[in-house]
Amino acid sequence: MPDTTPAVTYGNYLKIDELLSLQQPRSEGPEHDELLFIVIHQIYELWFKELLHEFDRVSALLTGDELHRAQHTLKRILTILKVMVAQLDILETMTPLEFLSFRARLEAASGFQSDQFRQIEFVLGAKSERALARFPERSRARESLTRRYHAPTLWDAFLRYLSREGYAVPPQLLSRDVTVAPAAAPEVQQILVDIYRRDPKNAELCERLVDLDEGVQEWRYRHVKMVERTIGMKPGTGASSGAAYLATTVGKPLFPDLWEIRGRL
Ligand code: HEM
Repeated sequence: MPDTTPAVTYGNYLKIDELLSLQQPRSEGPEHDELLFIVIHQIYELWFKELLHEFDRVSALLTGDELHRAQHTLKRILTILKVMVAQLDILETMTPLEFLSFRARLEAASGFQSDQFRQIEFVLGAKSERALARFPERSRARESLTRRYHAPTLWDAFLRYLSREGYAVPPQLLSRDVTVAPAAAPEVQQILVDIYRRDPKNAELCERLVDLDEGVQEWRYRHVKMVERTIGMKPGTGASSGAAYLATTVGKPLFPDLWEIRGRL
């Protein structure tokens, strides 16, 4: 029997036809800048997907005590995060009037409704039960987010790893309720101070987690500035107060213990 399977090509492997059919502007014309707006959001969603894939990997590697490979994966995550922050420059070439030319067509749609962004927040410990209810029951978004809500965070994987490394992480932190954000813990802070002073191998890992925390804060800061310059203090399409709401999310550390100790080193 001759092999009738079509040869693998760039186009069919990457599903280019399908990919290029996914940008569907809603404005009349359509307005020139709407394509950029759609493309950039789709690119972010793909990066979110890739980040979640890599976060799962880091947690698994830490759980398997494979520090070197976990750090390597963290480095990849940090590089992606840098690109994600830099990409905001592109959208900032869109002026307020260019955005207004199609903004009304977004109706109530908003990045606020990105389940993958919430999944990343959950992985990093910023859990919120209220976020679940925003997605229809049994939808892909709700199911994925619910799974992440009940799963241990990256910080939990880190604490469990430290415990196996011989550090006296309090047992109640190792079996804590993972559906809430990890709270600052003096016992962990003492461990971190010891690590920074005496354990360069694990201090390196701590530094990568600080990079990650700072990188996410950087994205939030750049996003709110972009929002301010594009729509000023107008409310968001997602019904929040807009830049004022976003400003409340900036500067909140994901891993408070790692920041708390800096002044003590
Ligand atoms: C002109 C460009 C943009 C404007 C004016 C804008 C505006 C806003 C506003 C006002 C909010 C607050 C929620 C609301 O009421 O809608 C928001 C949230 C959000 N936006 Fe944007 N955005 C822009 C671009 C982007 C891009 C490119 C992304 C990438 C995915 C993004 C992701 C998000 C996310 C994840 C949230 C939720 C943040 C949180 O709750 O902490 N936005 N955006």
